[in-house]
Amino acid sequence: MQLSLSALCAISAFLVIKADEEVPLRPELRRCNRNAEDFSSCLRLAIEEGWPTIVKGIPELEIPQLDPFVINSIEQEFHNGILRGKMTVKNSKTFGASGHRFRSVKAHLEGDRFNIEMDVTVPKILLEGDYKGDGFISAFKIGGKGKFNVTMEGIRTYFGLEGRVENDRWVIEHFKVLPEISNMHIWFSDFFNGNQDLNKAALIFSNQYWPLLYRGMLPYVSQYMDNYLTEFANRIFSKLSFSNTFPS
Ligand SMILES: *[C@@H]1O[C@H](CO)[C@@H](O)[C@H](O)[C@H]1NC(C)=O
Repeated sequence: MQLSLSALCAISAFLVIKADEEVPLRPELRRCNRNAEDFSSCLRLAIEEGWPTIVKGIPELEIPQLDPFVINSIEQEFHNGILRGKMTVKNSKTFGASGHRFRSVKAHLEGDRFNIEMDVTVPKILLEGDYKGDGFISAFKIGGKGKFNVTMEGIRTYFGLEGRVENDRWVIEHFKVLPEISNMHIWFSDFFNGNQDLNKAALIFSNQYWPLLYRGMLPYVSQYMDNYLTEFANRIFSKLSFSNTFPS
């Protein structure tokens, strides 16, 4: 799987949602009546109870294993006051998705518009892989290639799925994510082509100033996640009958 932001934008720009052949929702997953007063709390329970099944992967819905979640290659460019450059990440594995807790879920169905908002917490995410990067932090030239890992703790995030119901399918237009992180620990090897002293200084700098770096990256991360997760969610929901998944 080779992904880049421009490729994703190109995909979503002329995304023709075809209603794929229907796949029945697994019987162990709870269904919620979309007209019932407790639709939102039923959905929260359905997601919370179904999460262990979902995290293992549901091949017939093209849901891969989520913990660890493997991405072979990602490319991202940054243009921001303090952070400019290009980053490629390969062979990345993300651990911790099993820990998602769905604190609250709110569903809004009005006419053909269907949105779901969630407040989610995750105790810990560990991300590791190989990277290659080139760029500047402020006027400071950075670049190199090597291995990295990032531990994030105390994550609280908003998920906002927005879309419409069309031909008995939920067509998702946006999947908004806004993660707040309480603690982050960053490790990488060789960001300065072999200069260990500079790498050590950069590690100290990143671990001290990660909130600043994170704020700089967040607009890109959010945009990237929206494109990526919208496409991801549409692969799933284009196979599910809306009226069978959310019966009336
Ligand atoms: C990150 O990688 C380094 C070097 O391999 C290792 O010492 C460290 O324990 C790793 N951190 C985590 C959280 O896995």
